[in-house]
Amino acid sequence: MPSVSDRLPAFPWDRLEPYKTAAAAHPDGIVDLSVGTPVDPVPALVRRALTDAADSPGYPTVWGTGELRDAITGWCERRLGARGIGHRNVLPVVGSKELVAWLPTQLGLGAGDRVAFPRLAYPTYEVGARLAGAEPVAYDDPTELDPEGLKLLWLNSPSNPTGKVLGAEELRRVVAWAREHDVLVFSDECYLELGWETEPVSVLDPRVCGDSCAGVVAVHSLSKRSNLAGYRAAFIAGDAGILGELLHIRKHGGMMSPAPVQAATVAALGDDAHVAEQRARYTARRTALRGALESAGFRIEHSEASLYLWATRDESCWETVSDLSKRGILVAPGDFYGPAGERFVRVALTATDERISAAVRRLGE
Ligand SMILES: Cc1ncc(COP(=O)(O)O)c(C=O)c1O
Repeated sequence: MPSVSDRLPAFPWDRLEPYKTAAAAHPDGIVDLSVGTPVDPVPALVRRALTDAADSPGYPTVWGTGELRDAITGWCERRLGARGIGHRNVLPVVGSKELVAWLPTQLGLGAGDRVAFPRLAYPTYEVGARLAGAEPVAYDDPTELDPEGLKLLWLNSPSNPTGKVLGAEELRRVVAWAREHDVLVFSDECYLELGWETEPVSVLDPRVCGDSCAGVVAVHSLSKRSNLAGYRAAFIAGDAGILGELLHIRKHGGMMSPAPVQAATVAALGDDAHVAEQRARYTARRTALRGALESAGFRIEHSEASLYLWATRDESCWETVSDLSKRGILVAPGDFYGPAGERFVRVALTATDERISAAVRRLGE
């Protein structure tokens, strides 16, 4: 049996284990700013919606309940400024990572097809291409790619790991190029609600896609926005033809979001107050960490949005990881996101206020 895992890169987080052990040896405990997993409570109204729907003996549907589709279309109009989005333009997914990893396969891509993503990127775009047997291609400017065989173009704004945001004009230019060359655009916007120095724009904004979402799909997740990483709540919105095809495949594949999670998602999308509260927590942590890193000799690049600070001391990322681990702080080496990140580290804002204060103290020592 040929091994599918042979197509995939080594799982990078295993390389961080020795530094995690070193950081955990700090007398006051580890400050883990590596993975970026939410630590704050699930909002009470979301938990209530989940438990109220706990008695769900039947199978949920892949397309989701009518209430869920209404909640998604409403949110896309209200929050993204999308126009003309109906039920056929939305599809729940079981967390966005599974969608990213399996999309090329579900689109039927394979040998001879190319899948492009930013040079510095969330590693799962490449994993998805490799799982399908397609060719992964990293870009600096997508419009400089050779469109031959290019079937899927990933955008990611705000970016993980750099926090960079693409403006409406830049997105419009890329979407126009992709449409001209018949390349499908998937825009991963899971940090859209976490803009600090700028207001991120969706690919579904009419300034970007015009009056139609043809050839364009936005990917959204509630993991970061609503602290729901443990619920696996996400969705895609855009081109009805593409989503119809994915719905068909995913029905056969049994890729349905659990009914209580669907109910929780409706509650979360209908409430902006908890998002504002969570943003305030991250704003304070970001200000404190940014100041402490800069005082400790780091330069921060981009980072105008998302849950990370992209920091460098102009040395190998592994030197920085090693040095910080001795102070009990664990960060992610930039080369996890591509060789272009080898002199950066990614510092997550996802730790409690108490742990962020500990990191700030240690950086000042
Ligand atoms: C850019 C990006 N896309 C997708 C995901 C996956 O998020 P989830 O599977 O929790 O929706 C992440 C998670 O960190 C991410 O950084």
